Amino acid sequence: MGSTKPTRDFKKKIQKPIICFKRHLKKMERANKEFRSIVPEHIKYNLDEYLNIKRGDARRQPVDDKTVDIQITSSPYVTSYEYADLHQLSTLWLEYTPDLTEYRKEFIGTAHKRYEGRQLKSKIAQSVVNQMDVQDQKMAKEIEAFFIDMQEGFDETYRILKPGGRCCYVIGNNYLLTN
Ligand SMILES: C[S@@+](CC[C@H](N)C(=O)[O-])C[C@H]1O[C@@H](n2cnc3c(N)ncnc32)[C@H](O)[C@@H]1O
Repeated sequence: MGSTKPTRDFKKKIQKPIICFKRHLKKMERANKEFRSIVPEHIKYNLDEYLNIKRGDARRQPVDDKTVDIQITSSPYVTSYEYADLHQLSTLWLEYTPDLTEYRKEFIGTAHKRYEGRQLKSKIAQSVVNQMDVQDQKMAKEIEAFFIDMQEGFDETYRILKPGGRCCYVIGNNYLLTN
C-alpha cells in the first residue's frame, strides 16, 4: 500500500519484501534527484545554514512571540489513528524516547486521553461534543480531548505568527458511522 497507516487489503498479492524494498528505494532515488534538481545552488551547497529540523510539540514551539511568517501543518485527525503506535518503530530506532508510555501523552488525536474541567472556546466544538455525549460518553470525552489539544495548538500558532502571518491546516472532515 502507498499509505504508511495500517490497513487490511484482502486482495493483496504477497510479494518478496526485498523486491518491494528495492523498487521503493529506486522510486525514492528518482524523487530525490528530481527534488535536488530544483534546489538552488547556494542552498544545496550550504545546507547547514538553511536546515533546522526539530521534533517537538506543536502546542509548545520553541520560538518567540510574533516571529513566524508562515506555519504549515498537516495536523492530527480526531481519534482516527494512534500516532504513537504508527511512529513506534522509527521512535525507538532514532532513540527519541526511553519511555513510550510518557511519549504517548504528547500525541494529539489519541483515544487514550481525557481532560476534566477544561472549557472549549469553540461553540461548534462544544456542540459536537454534546451531540456525541448523547450517543457515546466515552467517545465524547476523547473528542473533547482532541479539541482541547487542537485549541492549545491554535493558541500557540496565534502567539508565534507575525501580524499578517499565515497558517495552513489540512482539515480532516471526519464523520462517525453509527449502527
Ligand atoms: C495527519 S498526520 C500528518 C502526517 C504527515 N503529513 C506526514 O507525512 O508524516 C498528523 C501528524 O501529527 C503528529 N502529531 C500528533 N500530535 C502532535 C503534537 N502534539 N505536535 C506535533 N505533531 C503531532 C502525528 O504524529 C502525525 O504524524
